[in-house]
Amino acid sequence: MDIYPTDESERVFNRAKAVIPGGIFGHYAGALGRPGPRFFSRSEGAHFWDVDGNEYIDYMCAYGPMILGYNNEVVDAAARAQYELGNTVSLAAPIMVELAELLVEKVAAADWALFGKNGGDSTGLAVRIARAATGRNKIVKIRDGYHGVAPWMMASTGDPRFEAGTISEDAAHVIEIPWNDLAALRQVVSDHRDDVACFISSPYDHPVLRDNTLPAEGYWREVEAVCRQNGVTLIIDEVRSGFRINLGGANVSYGFTPDMICFGKALGNGYPISALVGSDALKEAAQGVFYTGTQFFNAAPMAAAKATVEALFAADAASQMTSTGQALNDGLVNVAHQQGFELVASGVPAMPYFRLANVDMETHFRWVDECVKRGVYFLGYHNHFVSTVHGQADMERTFEVANEAFVALRESTD
Ligand SMILES: Cc1ncc(COP(=O)(O)O)c(C=O)c1O
Repeated sequence: MDIYPTDESERVFNRAKAVIPGGIFGHYAGALGRPGPRFFSRSEGAHFWDVDGNEYIDYMCAYGPMILGYNNEVVDAAARAQYELGNTVSLAAPIMVELAELLVEKVAAADWALFGKNGGDSTGLAVRIARAATGRNKIVKIRDGYHGVAPWMMASTGDPRFEAGTISEDAAHVIEIPWNDLAALRQVVSDHRDDVACFISSPYDHPVLRDNTLPAEGYWREVEAVCRQNGVTLIIDEVRSGFRINLGGANVSYGFTPDMICFGKALGNGYPISALVGSDALKEAAQGVFYTGTQFFNAAPMAAAKATVEALFAADAASQMTSTGQALNDGLVNVAHQQGFELVASGVPAMPYFRLANVDMETHFRWVDECVKRGVYFLGYHNHFVSTVHGQADMERTFEVANEAFVALRESTD
């Protein structure tokens, strides 16, 4: 198997550094510490090609948005039809109502929906609605739980890169508790009686740089009970996991009902749109919170989102991606075992986080590098994503590449 050259990526990256701080910024900069492609030239299905012409099976799916395949014909046709009618106009388009109706019909906890562009729009709005509804200050979140880049989300991370530009007051009303820790939640609610506005959390713990953890049996039912008993608004952040655990909301799988759910990423299969959905009890509070953005009423991404959600339901996509992810995990664990390594796959199968056990982090990263150099786009420190278009041939090729990567890893350490 040939090792991919990435000279053109480096050339473009060098140009980028002259005119863009850091060259590549934000979450896309996370991969910069390792060798690999920096810029894509095109994408199709579950694959992208870099500017050097190398083809990759993409297990990052644009960090989540790609769920039905790049350049999905049905989604693109829906967006194109709406673009032809109009996209950003001085009025909202009926497609906004149709999309809200669809989410209310399909998402179990949804009685209404509001639309933005990024996941952080939804999480930020959810917290404002919770504060408006309760008249309280405190936001309880999970330690290392990521909800976007607003100052309250960044200021208590303990990471200087994230905290840069925030002030300590930004974190003054944010309380972090460990994942799966009911006692800590009860304690916070009791310590700050009548001042906890909301508890915001992803449905399972998907931090970077360590194994992802599912909710303990009964955890969410008990969280819901604590919130209800204490008037705390329960917000589920499904920006990353949306439609990959349960199409009707991960809470359906975990047996509880949140007050609001934040969606983003996969909602438009790559078109810029996010949504906050919530319960009737919060509708008036939601109406009272001013929420807007120049691009929030873009009609074409709404058409794309409607087509995406319909296609996901038609394909029973969450079950399909769960099976695909499980097959990917099983195959990789098996390849690793045959090569004398132990690979741990954690999190939900449609979003697997991989870690090589019994070796240091650098060795794990080097195995990932060897996969990337041969056309399987993994990321060492982050959960991956599967889509409905990752197929059998992709999987077989992935196992071949993973196998070679283990051989290369062993040869380089011998
Ligand atoms: C769980 C979660 N919440 C919120 C966000 C923020 O979304 P965005 O980057 O679209 O603002 C992300 C982004 O990765 C996320 O993973």
